[in-house]
Formats: sequence, C-alpha cells, structure tokens
Amino acid sequence: MSEWLLRGDRSVQGTVQVAGSKYSALAAIPAALLAQEPTVIGNAPDIRDTRDYCALLSQVGARAERAGCAIRIDPREADFAPVPPEWAEGLRASYYMVGAQLARWGRAEVGLPGGDRIGRRPIDLHVKVLRAMGAEVELDIPGRLIRARRSGRLQGASIYLDTPSVGATAQAMICAVLARGQTRIENAYVAAFIVDLAEMLNAMGADVRGAGTRLVRIRGVQALHGAEHALIGDQAEAFTYLAAAAASGGEVRVMGIEPGQLGASAFAKLAEAGAETEAGPGYVQVRGPARLRATDITTGPLPAFYTDYQPPMAAALATAEGVSRIAETVWPERFGYAEGLAAMGAQVRRGVGEITIGGVRRLRGRTVVATESRAAAAYVVAGLCAEGSTRIAGAEHLERVYSNLAAKLRSLGADILELGRGDRDDRGAAAPA
Ligand code: EPU
Repeated sequence: MSEWLLRGDRSVQGTVQVAGSKYSALAAIPAALLAQEPTVIGNAPDIRDTRDYCALLSQVGARAERAGCAIRIDPREADFAPVPPEWAEGLRASYYMVGAQLARWGRAEVGLPGGDRIGRRPIDLHVKVLRAMGAEVELDIPGRLIRARRSGRLQGASIYLDTPSVGATAQAMICAVLARGQTRIENAYVAAFIVDLAEMLNAMGADVRGAGTRLVRIRGVQALHGAEHALIGDQAEAFTYLAAAAASGGEVRVMGIEPGQLGASAFAKLAEAGAETEAGPGYVQVRGPARLRATDITTGPLPAFYTDYQPPMAAALATAEGVSRIAETVWPERFGYAEGLAAMGAQVRRGVGEITIGGVRRLRGRTVVATESRAAAAYVVAGLCAEGSTRIAGAEHLERVYSNLAAKLRSLGADILELGRGDRDDRGAAAPA
C-alpha cells in the first residue's frame, strides 16, 4: 500500500498541464487492435491503468509500447487469446476487449471488469450492445468471465441505451466500425472523450458520425488502417486542481483542456460556491475565496455535474460556510471519502444516494484510508487545507488514474511526500493521530 503525507495550510497557486484523457485512452488502446497496421496514440496519460492495458494487449500478442508521450500499438502479430480474470479485474475498461476481440476474431473471452469500488457497476448495457449486433454472449459469473461468439462479421444494429453510458457507447462504437451495415446508437453518451474516440477511429478509416450528440451513426467498413491521433486532456484531473484551488483560497490555471469538456455545471457549481472562474481556448482557471459557501449538487451524465468531480468537490465544500447537499445519481454509493473526512472533523451525514457536508471552518490532519481513486483525490483536497499533516493510505489508487499528481501539486506549492515511492518522512511530522 502506498502512502502520501501532506502538510496542510497550503494554497495551491500557479499553472499546471493536464495529461491526456484517461477515458479516451482506455477505449483507444483496445480500439487500436482493430487496425491492420500500427497506431500511435499521442498525449497518452502515463498512469497505471494505461500501463496495465498495454500489458493486457501483450497477452494477445500485440505490441504496445510507450515512446515519450505516445503509446504505439502494433496489432499485426495479435491473435485471439483469452484474457483471464486476473488480467481483467484490475481494469474497468477491460470490457472493451470483448468488443475488440469479437470485431477482430469473431469470439471473445475476457474476465469480468474490475475498477474503482464505488458500488454496483452493472454491464447489462454492454451485453445488450453485443447481442444486438448478433453475438451470443454468456456471462460465466463463477468463472468470472464474459464469453461471446459470432460467426462472421458483427451485424450493424439500432441500439437504444437505456442510460447514457460512457462504456456502452464506446463499446458499441468499437463493435460497429468493422460490422456489416449501419449502426445507430441512440441516447449515446455526450462527451468530448467520445468525440475523441470517434476521431481516432475515423483517422483509422472508420465512418463514425454524430459523436458528441445523442445519436451516433456508424457505417461499418471492411478494414481499418493505422493512424496517429493525439488525445484530448483529462477533465477529471483538471477538475481536481480546480477544486484544490477553490478550497485552499489559491489560484490555478489548468492548461491542456478545452472549457467545454468539463461540462457547464462544473463552472456553475464552483461559481455558486464563491470561486472566480475563467476559461479560454486550451485552459480553465479558478481562484478560491477566503472561504467557500455551500451549494447543492446533483451528479449526472455530462453536461450535468460529472460524478468523477464529486468527491474532490465534496472535500472542498467540507469547510464551506453552510451545509451542502450532494445527490449522486450515477454511482449512488460513491461516498467512500465520508468516513475519512468525518475523522478530519467534517460534519458529514450520509443518506441513500446523497450526502450532506459542511459547517466547520477547519479540518484537522489525520490518517485516512483511500479505497478508490476519486476518494483519494478528495483526501488530497482536504489535506491541503487541513490544520497539520494528513497521511493518505491507499495512495496507489491515485496512481491508477492520475499522471504525476504529487509532482504537479508540488509545483503548485503543495508539500507532499510519497512515502511508498521512497520519500522519507524526515520532518518528524508523521503519524498524525
Ligand atoms: N450502467 C448500467 N448498465 C451498464 C453500464 C452502465 O446500468 O451496462 C449505469 C451505471 O450503473 C451508471 C451509469 O450507467 O449509473 C453510467 O455508467 P457508465 O457506463 O458511464 O460508467 P463506466 O463506463 O463504467 C466510466 C468511467 C468512470 C466514470 C463513468 C461516468 C472509464 C473506464 N470509467 O465508467 O470513471 O465514473 O464512466 O459515467 O472510462 C473514474 O475515473 O473515477 C471512474 C470511475
């Protein structure tokens, strides 16, 4: 288990560059398997999830290598090979291997996906997509496997997603680009990272239209070629810095992100809480007030307040004036930070799918245990502003989704030791109660 030690009473100030989008990368890497030539994915975040995904591709014989900011995937030697549960369960996005294997080899065998522990994470919409396109799908729960099969190419289909799902939208796109005929994805997820995936697939020779709207239309093609495509910036990383600036009374400009990517509600809620926001081409910026004020938030599919912003925003609101109510409609149990923030002195009340938080002026540094990535981000935001030092156990969750987060926060003035990575706690500040 890796640990971070943060010294509190710090406001973050300065300019920081975000890494490439995790959401785009984790669909783009398996999508590169569909081509007959190498694909270079530029601006690829160097996070544990992308490293694990590249290792997973090597299981099927594809070469996936990092070269600087890019990942080069050469699928020419790739062949069908089952992806065992122990390879799949560390990654949520391993579900895209089902679509990629089916589209390329007509059969798939992939362990059930894992990922952040944030409550129930069904995959029924993925199964619906695969079946609509003519695949036979078997969920082997005791064996922790998804098996799928289709003789010949997948068949284009009209698919209605009962919920706009990031994963099911990208899954349908991956399945449809090489399918026979046309596919319509209705009630598709609307986000810049879906457009990003469509642009990469189109650069590979696919015909995807309407990405970034509720209706995505895809005309299947016979084959895809290699391409070079640079990914957009990571919106959840960007929002983490904005929340940290807002909470700590700091000022941070985040580069490498288009304002529209964040969703209008992200700016609206920061502003309602009293932060000054600014945005322009390629950047977003926040200046925090001396003290935030409470605001109510309901998460939802973009452009509503994105669920991945919710934990760091909750931490920012923990010391706001007044009590905020946060309703979490995407992952109704995603309050893994509640216990730790309460230990730090926050007044937190958890309900079903919602939480109320706020009413204290200061948090106190404590030892907290992160059980998922964005809860860990919440502790980072809280620890920056708290009195004394905060020790975050389970900091490895941060490394799964953030690229160089500690170094970037240090460049903004944070005082962070990565105890699991060889930093020594030589200030005697360890072991906050
Ligand atoms: N849903 C279903 N059935 C499905 C799929 C989803 O009912 O088959 C529901 C979910 O229960 C949820 C909603 O649809 O209520 C949206 O889930 P979605 O499919 O969009 O989630 P996902 O694709 O599994 C991705 C991100 C998550 C992020 C969500 C936001 C990846 C690998 N993961 O997950 O990222 O929270 O979209 O919708 O792209 C994170 O980065 O912290 C993270 C958890």
